Amino acid sequence: MLYRRLLTTLALSILLSWLSLLTHSSSLSRRVPHETRRSIPHGWQPIQRAEPSMVLPLRIGLAQSNTHLLESFLNDVSHPVSPNYGKHWSPAKVAETFRPSNESLETVRAWLADNGIQAHRTRVSHGGGWIHTDVTIEEAEALLGTDYYVYQNAAEDREHIACGSTYHLPEHVSKHVELITPTLHFDVPKRRSVVNRTSKPSVGGGPRVGPKIDVGHFLVVFNDLDHCDEQITLDCLRALYNFQYEFVSNMSTIGVVEMTPETHDPSDLDVFFGNFSTDQVGERPILVGIDGGVILTGAPDSYLAESSLDLQYAMGLVGKNQSVLLYQVGDPVEGGSFNNLLDALDATFCTFEGGDDPTQDGVYPDTQQGGFDEPEQCGSIKPADVITNSYGYNEAELTPFYMTRQCTEYGKLGLMGVTFLYASGDSGVGGNGDLCLEPNGTQAVGAAIFNPGFPGGCPWVTNVGATQISPGNPVTAPETASAEFGSGGGWSNVFAMPDYQKSAVQGYLKEFPPSFPSNIWNSTGISRAYPDIAGNGWNYTVAIDGEFFLIGGTSAASPMSAAMLTAINDARLSQGKSPIGFINPTIYSDAFQGLFNDITTGSNPGCGTDGFTAEVGWDPVTGLGTINFQKLLAAWLELP
Ligand SMILES: *[C@@H]1O[C@H](CO)[C@@H](O)[C@H](O)[C@H]1NC(C)=O
Ligand SMILES: *[C@@H]1O[C@H](CO)[C@@H](O)[C@H](O)[C@H]1NC(C)=O
Ligand SMILES: *[C@@H]1O[C@H](CO)[C@@H](O)[C@H](O)[C@H]1NC(C)=O
Ligand SMILES: *[C@@H]1O[C@H](CO)[C@@H](O)[C@H](O)[C@H]1NC(C)=O
Ligand SMILES: *[C@@H]1O[C@H](CO)[C@@H](O)[C@H](O)[C@H]1NC(C)=O
Ligand SMILES: *[C@@H]1O[C@H](CO)[C@@H](O)[C@H](O)[C@H]1NC(C)=O
Ligand SMILES: *[C@@H]1O[C@H](CO)[C@@H](O)[C@H](O)[C@H]1NC(C)=O
Ligand SMILES: *[C@@H]1O[C@H](CO)[C@@H](O)[C@H](O)[C@H]1NC(C)=O
Repeated sequence: MLYRRLLTTLALSILLSWLSLLTHSSSLSRRVPHETRRSIPHGWQPIQRAEPSMVLPLRIGLAQSNTHLLESFLNDVSHPVSPNYGKHWSPAKVAETFRPSNESLETVRAWLADNGIQAHRTRVSHGGGWIHTDVTIEEAEALLGTDYYVYQNAAEDREHIACGSTYHLPEHVSKHVELITPTLHFDVPKRRSVVNRTSKPSVGGGPRVGPKIDVGHFLVVFNDLDHCDEQITLDCLRALYNFQYEFVSNMSTIGVVEMTPETHDPSDLDVFFGNFSTDQVGERPILVGIDGGVILTGAPDSYLAESSLDLQYAMGLVGKNQSVLLYQVGDPVEGGSFNNLLDALDATFCTFEGGDDPTQDGVYPDTQQGGFDEPEQCGSIKPADVITNSYGYNEAELTPFYMTRQCTEYGKLGLMGVTFLYASGDSGVGGNGDLCLEPNGTQAVGAAIFNPGFPGGCPWVTNVGATQISPGNPVTAPETASAEFGSGGGWSNVFAMPDYQKSAVQGYLKEFPPSFPSNIWNSTGISRAYPDIAGNGWNYTVAIDGEFFLIGGTSAASPMSAAMLTAINDARLSQGKSPIGFINPTIYSDAFQGLFNDITTGSNPGCGTDGFTAEVGWDPVTGLGTINFQKLLAAWLELP
């Protein structure tokens, strides 16, 4: 008895001292996988373990507060029946609302201290969102329970440091962290390649140049409404979408995003305007260089297509009374990523002292010759009312936490009143480069599983698909879903379905259930479906290097739609109303039923299938349809 009690006491005291050790040294709590990557992005291979002594600039993104309320905040200012419709938030209110809690900050600091990384080695970003510390590879491996490797992309002659497929955090720390870089992520900036005129455009990491289908150059330039099935011009688009509007003021703003080394030749604007919009000859976009973004000279034609298309149509459609901002992201040496763009638009997104993950994003100051030798821009640019972006990734290339952090940021910009349009991609239900998914998550050409795009699948952007005029049809006939290429569409594998589209999407699934096996698409019925809207994307007449080319892609549909939405902002602002902001809750609402031109024919082939079909009402090929400008203008002017 006595013996047993003694033993118990002894056991208890051992247990107690172990417990006190536990509470004292919280790093002893169970480690859980924090982020996992299913496969290495296409084109990359690990070639060796990283040197243990190499220093990594580790950045820990703290969990933001109130992100679970983002959707209701957005509905509050963006849903037409809300009493707060149009009452957008100030950047300060956004910063305050989502700022990580002190508890998150202190928990992560304590964990670092327990692992020998004392407070003096850490710094906190201005917005309170990130903790920065320089650690060796050896320290990082111990801290995160992972191994670091040097990865190589032989085709692009690039290297990248990343960890193996998973990194770990103690359970009590994990919930206070969104993501840690550099770890799994691969959105490496585009390499300088424009300086080397013989090299091919980058197709590896980094946001892909969107859709850009080059039909070839030609000599005859039509400028009448009888040839719109052969060549799209400004007048064709005005006729298609009932877009007659004179800008009242220059009060609203529109920003066109271009990722260096994509660029344009300003003299091409004059060739375009000279033929199609003579009073704009000599007009230029207002250059907003982000992290050293400039207009490059002497770039090969393959780097001119996207920017020339976007600028000629955005500027041509808004006309001379409304300026267009050119957000040129990244310097000619490093290029840039979406993080560089978002940093410039919102200081709370920035990591530390400028610079995101240096192994992923353009890092500034860039000390290489010709690089942008200043700190990265952080919240220095007031976001335009409407921003159009024709670049994108495949979801499979990024990790869910990484995408979620960017997606949340689009939502925050929506709260501030920004309309963010993204092209949906040009490979139908497949991903950029016609890559589809294997069952193990690897991307491959010829694989069978649909491969959704990012940020198209983020519910807080407006995703734009493509349509075309069927050959032989007049401009007045209904359009069809793009038939020359599959317009990106389908269901995200990462983001949940937002409330605003539930009834439209569930209606489609009920009335037109897709016949594919449920294991090749996200058939759960609970994930975000896209696109939201569509617009013409085929045979755009674009001046490049002094000649006209025909270009197509959802890349065309996004800036074109952005120009028309900017006209609606102009009308609202001139009546003292707010800009339209995040439009999705509005355009799917009852009040806006039937205001888009519904597209009911065509499909979006990819991954060896015919893709989904366009049907009456919303569909995962053309969304709600194309803009009917006069109807939408009237409806938006009805709103407060
Ligand atoms: C968080 O910490 C800051 C600075 O230490 C302090 O001023 C603030 O009151 C704290 N907030 C809360 C909610 O504890
Ligand atoms: C330019 O790119 C080509 C093809 O990638 C490569 O063979 C060549 O060495 C590069 N030239 C320079 C000057 O970098
Ligand atoms: C426009 O596209 C159609 C295919 O839809 C193609 O046949 C035609 O040749 C194009 N127009 C011109 C002028 O090339
Ligand atoms: C530009 O504004 C002026 C008045 O300020 C107006 O007369 C003209 O029609 C407008 N032009 C366009 C293309 O909207
Ligand atoms: C119209 O385009 C042609 C190229 O097809 C170009 O040579 C011509 O200069 C342009 N016209 C004007 C007035 O700019
Ligand atoms: C519009 O406003 C911007 C910014 O104030 C200005 O730089 C630009 O010249 C204006 N454009 C027109 C057409 O008035
Ligand atoms: C994934 O599956 C594909 C096709 O079966 C195979 O070629 C590839 O090696 C696999 N990758 C991994 C990382 O398992
Ligand atoms: C389908 O999407 C949901 C999120 O919307 C996700 O949780 C699920 O894992 C996805 N399914 C597949 C097979 O990726």
